Amino acid sequence: MWFPVERSIQKIYLYVTCEACVKYEWRENVNIVPLACESLGTRGMAAYVSTGDLGILIDPGVDLAPVRFRLPPHRLEIERKAQHWNRIRAYAQKARILIVTHYHHDHFHEDEFELFRDKHVLLKHPEKQINFNQKKRAKALLSRIENISREIHYVDGRHFTFGDVRITFSRAVCHGINDRSGYVVEVSIRNETTFLHTSDVTGPIRPEQLEFILKQDPEILLCDGPVSYMVGSKYDTRYLDDCMKNLITIIERTRVHKLMLEHHLLRELEWQDRIAPVFDAAKERGVILSTAAEFGGLKTDLLEARRKELHARSG
Ligand SMILES: [Fe+2]
Ligand SMILES: [Fe+2]
Repeated sequence: MWFPVERSIQKIYLYVTCEACVKYEWRENVNIVPLACESLGTRGMAAYVSTGDLGILIDPGVDLAPVRFRLPPHRLEIERKAQHWNRIRAYAQKARILIVTHYHHDHFHEDEFELFRDKHVLLKHPEKQINFNQKKRAKALLSRIENISREIHYVDGRHFTFGDVRITFSRAVCHGINDRSGYVVEVSIRNETTFLHTSDVTGPIRPEQLEFILKQDPEILLCDGPVSYMVGSKYDTRYLDDCMKNLITIIERTRVHKLMLEHHLLRELEWQDRIAPVFDAAKERGVILSTAAEFGGLKTDLLEARRKELHARSG
């Protein structure tokens, strides 16, 4: 476990002991580019990860809430979604590996099967621990990519090695608090630095979702946060408290020093106030807590959360 003081010692150690060209950043030999997500104005958790000469695209999909505040997507959201598809297509070209963590349409789309041409494809199992709709979509995707992809593997609970890079998948864990929305796999990518993408854990809320994160002990974490905008309707406050407890456990018990919270949490403007104790814990431990947009050096631009205002403005 690295506490902030230990982290700074590590930093100094690397600065003073290594020759001129080696900096602390040397440890972070992984580059993460968020491609489509709530903080960039759409729904998704699409991210391009490059480490060494290996490019990995996780969850090549983007979508919009069909209805929010009883309103359809605003023109700006529709335009942003088109831009994000273009980003995903461009980065898919660079990637050698494509990963699909589950079969919701904000994480992949069977009509975008060309993305998978000549790729190593790592898929959540299309038949085991999956609900009816996702099984149907998985089957549609597979029928379109089995003859054009380089190879296809079902990944639940497995690990793969590409050169120095080890990709580890959790076993199928619930999509959120229970299995009503099906299952997902979490992904850990390790090459000196460990990066972890939680997929749709909505919290994390369940012990097995948390357990994988603690065990992988990532330095950089892209985490699907709690569904705070439904607390008071679909979820009770205990759910939010439990999610915060788990996020604080991650901050306290892993080496994480860059924590991106995304997706379900960023569907309301007040998301930061909702999880204030998590921000306090991050500050105390010297962990940088941000959205994926901010991590990528961009401004957070929550379009869905502002849908009412956007429609009101355009009359
Ligand atoms: Fe999902
Ligand atoms: Fe999702």
